[in-house]
Amino acid sequence: MESLADYIHGLDKAELHLHLEGSVEMQTIRELAPKLSLDDIRLNTEYVDFAGFLRAYVWVTRKLDSPAAYALATRRLLENLAAQHVTYAEITLSAGVILWKEQNLEAIFNAIQREARQFERVEVAWIFDAIRQFGAEPAARVFAAAKEMKSEGVVAIGIGGDEARGPAGWFAQLYAQAREAGLRLTCHAGEVTGPESVWDALEIGAERIGHGIRSIEDARLLETLRKRNIPLEVCPSSNVCTRAVADLAAHPLRRLWDADVPIVLGSDDPALFRSNLQQEYEIAADVFGFSREDLARLAANSLRYAFR
Ligand code: ADE
Ligand code: ZN
Repeated sequence: MESLADYIHGLDKAELHLHLEGSVEMQTIRELAPKLSLDDIRLNTEYVDFAGFLRAYVWVTRKLDSPAAYALATRRLLENLAAQHVTYAEITLSAGVILWKEQNLEAIFNAIQREARQFERVEVAWIFDAIRQFGAEPAARVFAAAKEMKSEGVVAIGIGGDEARGPAGWFAQLYAQAREAGLRLTCHAGEVTGPESVWDALEIGAERIGHGIRSIEDARLLETLRKRNIPLEVCPSSNVCTRAVADLAAHPLRRLWDADVPIVLGSDDPALFRSNLQQEYEIAADVFGFSREDLARLAANSLRYAFR
């Protein structure tokens, strides 16, 4: 029989929860900042909790100091996705961090989109992400840029960062306006705070939930996700690395699946978590007992719940 790895590789699948900045490998950081030693990089990308993870993420993002650097990160990521037989990717760009760094978002987006268009083996769409704890005003600038660049491949907007310090309600009006403009809506929620955060994301119109693993604590929420057909973008390795869960044994993936909540798998920040989408599928099989049929359903979900 075909090996599990080959079986997963062969599945036609999409990656829907993946941050460009979190995909930048150490070697690429060294190319961008040759003065940094591997020890420097290790020191700055190690963390023991979610707050530390966010600092590491921002540290890496600071190494992307030009449109060319973002373009290089994009090329490397697409090569990686193609090698995993990922045929379609919705890649999140931390546009909120780019504006906070006072860089030219349009120039950066033009550079990465040029790179993506040249790369024929993976179809790419973009999600512009704002940072929750920065508040509504910076998010308004992110979503305005998303609207402007919609015809250039931006399909959706989202919010990420620290859900404990930036409630979804702050962004309600902006989400409504983005929807009016024809953008799709996703939202990191229920990753490190409880089910209330997922309810809040639903309240502002999120059509997919980034992580949402804490939904497992609320049976009525599980039923609502099921009835409204709202998928959770579940990223098991991410949740262990950021200490959102203690370990894989404590991760609710299997229980969410058994509760019939729509699920897609994602790798989130593959370089920072030393994982990739292939590995997340392998974990589903090896740790959570997903059958090959289940894995095929996960792959089908990734195409079904895409925003294209
Ligand atoms: N940005 C990148 N990865 C993230 C995560 N796991 N949670 C919130 N924001 C993020
Ligand atoms: Zn994420």
